[in-house]
Amino acid sequence: MTSHLRLGVNIDHVATIRNARGGEHPDPLRAALAAAAAGADGITAHLREDRRHITDDDLDRMIGSISLPLNLEMAATDEMLAIALRHRPHAACIVPERRAERTTEGGLDAAGQHNVLAPIVTRLRDAGCRVSLFIAPEARQLDAAAQLGAPVVELHTGPYSHAEGDAIAFELDRLRTAATYGAALGLEIHAGHGLTFDNVAPVAAIPEIAELNIGHFLIGEAVFTGLDAAIRRMRAAMDAARG
Ligand code: PXP
Repeated sequence: MTSHLRLGVNIDHVATIRNARGGEHPDPLRAALAAAAAGADGITAHLREDRRHITDDDLDRMIGSISLPLNLEMAATDEMLAIALRHRPHAACIVPERRAERTTEGGLDAAGQHNVLAPIVTRLRDAGCRVSLFIAPEARQLDAAAQLGAPVVELHTGPYSHAEGDAIAFELDRLRTAATYGAALGLEIHAGHGLTFDNVAPVAAIPEIAELNIGHFLIGEAVFTGLDAAIRRMRAAMDAARG
């Protein structure tokens, strides 16, 4: 069991709100600084090819101003690779953006995209970035991640988060099995997507998981309670599940 379960706060949807009007408010950098003050262990941001969330300028400002490790989510493209190599964030998480890059579960098709991913994983690793692959909780994808030399995988918790009835236990079991299998392969295990106060505990309790990345729910909850309170409550829920 990794003792401290890290919380990466994804600030993309602060940028989504700002972008709805243009201008500068609300500023995702301010959210990143507030997340740090609230006890986040890292900041996660997805520079999408269409820039619908954060922008290049947001990334420039964050790299220069935040003290927490930055986890840059990025598509496996030449453009994103060049940006990541220029900024050298602490971590780079490769995510699918196009349908053809996804598995049926919505994660990156690490198995099917081996030839595209191999040089990108190598170049990011050589630049000192901790590379992770956002994948479905499937043995085939974990095997592919290990073969690619990615030290970290992030298990896609979307199917678990959206499940109802008996499917919840089924999806949770897939996450547990994948976490055990991936850790045995030597991979560091992260998880994320769709996590909330109500569904985070069983995932946080999986002992092999070292980090959760959570965004949309926290930013939404911040409308009602403030970002600081939302992050502190999530942190407490994770710690209680782990304890
Ligand atoms: N992890 C990855 C790789 C993501 O792409 C995202 C955003 O979809 C998240 C975690 C956070 O998901 P959410 O915003 O649903 O909490």
